[in-house]
Amino acid sequence: MCGIVGYTGTSQAAPILLDGLARLEYRGYDSAGLAIRDGSELAQVVKSTGKLRSLIEKTDSGRSLAGTCGIGHTRWATHGEPSQTNAHPHVSGNCTGSACGQVESEVVGVHNGIIENYLELRDKLSRHGYQFYSETDTEVVVKLIDYYYRKYKIGPVDAINRTLVRVRGTYALALMFRDHPGEIYAARKDAPMIIGVSGENSYLASDVPAILNYTRSVYYIGNLQIARVLPGEVHFYDLNGDEVQLERTEITWDAKAAEKNGFEHFMIKEIYEQPAAVRDTLASLLCDGKISLADTGLDDTTLRSVSSIRIVACGSAWHVGMAAQYILEDLAQIPVRVELASEYRYRKVLSDDRELLIVISQSGETADSLAALRKGKDMGIRTLAIVNVVGSTIAREADHVLYTHAGPEIAVATTKAYSSQLIAIYCLAVETAFMLGRIDEEAYEYYIQELTSLPDKITRILEEKERIQWFASKYSNARDIFFIGRGLDYAISLEGSLKAKEISYVHSEAYAAGELKHGTISLIEDNILVIGVLTQKDLFEKTVSNMAECKARGAYLMALTSYGNYSVEDSADFTVYVPKADPHFMASLAVVPLQLFGYYSGVARGLDVDKPRNLAKSVTVE
Ligand code: M6R
Repeated sequence: MCGIVGYTGTSQAAPILLDGLARLEYRGYDSAGLAIRDGSELAQVVKSTGKLRSLIEKTDSGRSLAGTCGIGHTRWATHGEPSQTNAHPHVSGNCTGSACGQVESEVVGVHNGIIENYLELRDKLSRHGYQFYSETDTEVVVKLIDYYYRKYKIGPVDAINRTLVRVRGTYALALMFRDHPGEIYAARKDAPMIIGVSGENSYLASDVPAILNYTRSVYYIGNLQIARVLPGEVHFYDLNGDEVQLERTEITWDAKAAEKNGFEHFMIKEIYEQPAAVRDTLASLLCDGKISLADTGLDDTTLRSVSSIRIVACGSAWHVGMAAQYILEDLAQIPVRVELASEYRYRKVLSDDRELLIVISQSGETADSLAALRKGKDMGIRTLAIVNVVGSTIAREADHVLYTHAGPEIAVATTKAYSSQLIAIYCLAVETAFMLGRIDEEAYEYYIQELTSLPDKITRILEEKERIQWFASKYSNARDIFFIGRGLDYAISLEGSLKAKEISYVHSEAYAAGELKHGTISLIEDNILVIGVLTQKDLFEKTVSNMAECKARGAYLMALTSYGNYSVEDSADFTVYVPKADPHFMASLAVVPLQLFGYYSGVARGLDVDKPRNLAKSVTVE
């Protein structure tokens, strides 16, 4: 939600900030803005509604804004509609927020997150003569900093500190103070922020892709810490204002990985990167042909002591959890419960101290997943995070971390991260099953063999994409789609349905095939598209029967199954085949045509598939 960038150094700031914002646009795209300072001159603020392109045009690609220090923002609205007035940066002065140009303000800032008590703070500030031009919580926090800064005649670090203890919520802030040219101040609580330094230049951003072209050497600023960023140097402070030392981390992601590289959209590029993402994640978990969880710190004794597993996550990561439940229970024979993080965090949870809580998250910053992790930790439960972004908050706070190796995922709709998360689950399931004696050596080796064959099988599916592309264009105007499947096929259906609706805006539902006749079948009428997922041999006939029940009521049937199951063509109007693999791992193959279906449906409808309306890549607010 919202992207923040900052730069101070020897080059012109605006083009660097616009470049960074372009790489963060997946975090928010309803408006954008820049504040640039040229030496001791006042900050120049420019804002614009809509996609970043309009800000780029308005500033002549940044050339119209001179200055070597600045902050920028791309917004995903929380408080107040998308408008120029509500767009960031916000300023402490009593001016009209929509105005652009030089602003007479002590403090200028951008913000990602939500300030929960902003109305109460706004009232307080109003009583002290502050006027508000926007509906945002950000303007309130900028003015509160200004209030403390002036009232106590203290420095920026102390003014920010006083503010942090008054605000409730989640935030990442980047601020410039009129009396401190060339400096940017940053603070965060439960929202991401990284700071990179290279030579005489310093950068800050909400996410790694924004600064990958400039530096790979970054600091992960901690919760409730403040950074003072100067050209080529950075200092960190705690809530007492004492300086603290942070370690630098080297980012190993390839800058090219965050570019489209000739693909029309990031989403299709990332779909095509799945064989590599799966291979890399697998390679990170295999050592001499055996699964090794050593990097996670989960040793054999710990794994053996686990009596049950609970998985919490949101969106597609929750769908991985749904698949994991079938796989872990079947292979390792450990009871598994899967919960939406947003539900888990607010309910009374009964757990025993031998439970393992697994939090799955691509970004490692999803607010509900982070809150669920913290709740588990507060209850004394051992936690394992399956995360893609190195150094993210969930990764840093969990007891154990299993990193997926999908590389930067830019498209809002997840594809390669989902596929990498599945690999993490497979390895965990096979290793636990072996350690607990649920499978013998022969089966263990068979599963590893099957796992290593997945990347090539995914490549083969991608080579046959035309068929699903054609079908997606034909059905891109469907009114409703129902995805049905049983067992693991139900978990796959959930992901297929989400891909369809989030990218193409076609209403879709996923149903456990046997559940349809308990109500939902009343929605089936002529030409409604029903997509049956049939990768599980034992459940094949059952799902075919449920599909036939839909066809009898007028539905048009698409079947998704593996090569060899040709009898499905007796019922289905259109069939897509994927290679065979061990049934536990079929989600990795069956999901690919469904991702392609969602993608090509969106493209056929002329939609911006990388940035679907109302969505943002990392949901760092509740
Ligand atoms: O970063 P996370 O994996 O925690 O994100 C969870 C969901 O927000 C995410 O999977 C979302 O559902 C995607 N847009 C799905 O494509």
